[in-house]
Formats: sequence, C-alpha cells, structure tokens
Amino acid sequence: RDDSASVGEYIGQYIAKRRINDFCPTPERPFVLGLPTGSSPIPTYKCLIRLVKDGKLSFRNVVTFNMDEYVGLPEDHPESYHTFMFREFFSQVDIDPKNVNILDGNAADLVEECNAYEEKIRALGGIELFLGGIGEDGHIAFNEPGSSLSSRTRIKTLAYETILANARFFGNDVAAVPRMALTVGVKTVLDAREVVVVVTGQRKALALSMAIENGVNHLWTLSALQTHPLALIVVDEDATAEL
Ligand code: GLP
Repeated sequence: RDDSASVGEYIGQYIAKRRINDFCPTPERPFVLGLPTGSSPIPTYKCLIRLVKDGKLSFRNVVTFNMDEYVGLPEDHPESYHTFMFREFFSQVDIDPKNVNILDGNAADLVEECNAYEEKIRALGGIELFLGGIGEDGHIAFNEPGSSLSSRTRIKTLAYETILANARFFGNDVAAVPRMALTVGVKTVLDAREVVVVVTGQRKALALSMAIENGVNHLWTLSALQTHPLALIVVDEDATAEL
C-alpha cells in the first residue's frame, strides 16, 4: 500500500467484511479479536470506527484481548494501554466494556494475572484474529529479541531500544518509561486462527526485512509468523526500504 492511511483502510475493511461480518458473531459465539496499541494501528482503528458509525459493522458480539500493558503504570495514566485503547477505539465503537480484556499491570500477583489471561482466551475457544504491530527491534507485542518462540503470556523486561523508542510518549523522558510489561507470548499470537500485522514507516524497514527475508529466529520475533498457516503482513511503501 502507498501509505499508513491506506494500510489502515485495507486492514479495517478486511477485518470488518471478511472476518467479523462474515463470521456473524452471536452472544453465545462471539468473535474473539486480539488487538495492539501503538501508532501503527490507529488508521485501522479509524476505519473500524467509521464502519461502525456508518452501520456497516458492530462490536456488540466481539470480545477483545489486548496484546500487552506496562507494569506499574496506573491504569488511568495517559500512556497506559488501557487509556490508549479506550481513547483511540473502545469509547468510539459499540463494544460492551465487559467484553474488553486488557492485562492488569498492577495486579497483586502478576504471574497469576498472566496465567488467568491465557485461561480466559482458551475458555472462549481461542483468538480468531490477532491484529498486531511491531517494534523497531522486530518485537511483536512486547516479545523482545531473545524471547522464546513458544512463550505464553508473562512478565517481560523491556529492551533498552524499546524504552528509548517509547520515550516519545513520556515527554522524551527515558526515566519515565516503565521497565517491564505484561505481554502475550509469541505462541499466544501464533495460536490465533489468523494473524494480521501492520508494519508502516521507514523505522520498521530493517525489522520487516529481518522477519521475512531471514529464517525463523528468536531475535526478530515477528519472524515466527513464517510458521503460521494464515498470516498477513500489510506494509506501506516506506517499510519496504530494506527488502
Ligand atoms: C509497543 C507495543 C507494540 C507495538 C509497538 C509499535 O512497543 N508493545 O505492541 O507494536 O509499540 O509502536 P508504534 O506502532 O507506535 O511504532
């Protein structure tokens, strides 16, 4: 696609038509959707919001699971992924907040929080479609370089590169960026029936080439998608600079 706006439009239409609407979810059989944060999916969210406003799509019977959340950041902090998701998406569509699942980075027992998240996904029959973005170091969710490709939801220490990249959301104050996060694992993503990843901008060009032109490896965790039977990476022209 030419740019990030047309990538968002493509993915938004794809999720709406080919996935949620054709799936025809009901309260008994909801559509289970995995969702990311970050700037990359915003054009997709804009497209989905418009489709809901135009009456062409509904999230009434959709249950969502977010990929990750910072540890120790108050839930109502402007940069928490809870705040991001309600601001950029959930408050603008017809989803029942009870159907929204986001890891609690302030849970008393973080390990139990992660295990319960996996259990809840399993109990709903698994994730139908996981939408993702990537970091400049090729991470999917917060599966930093070196993550096991069979990892599940867990606590992860952020790579310094990620802390630097995300400092822009914390007034460029590197010290203000949380050092740890809860994240779904690579295997949690791979277990979804379908994975769609948005990769836009030249900042992601190296990660894209490492993930699709090299072999599967745990240093560029997006590369694990090569083993998935139904995975789609939608890119803009800038992201293809290293291909
Ligand atoms: C964070 C998130 C990732 C996301 C990445 C990219 O690191 N944990 O899930 O893919 O940001 O963010 P952006 O799209 O703003 O480049």
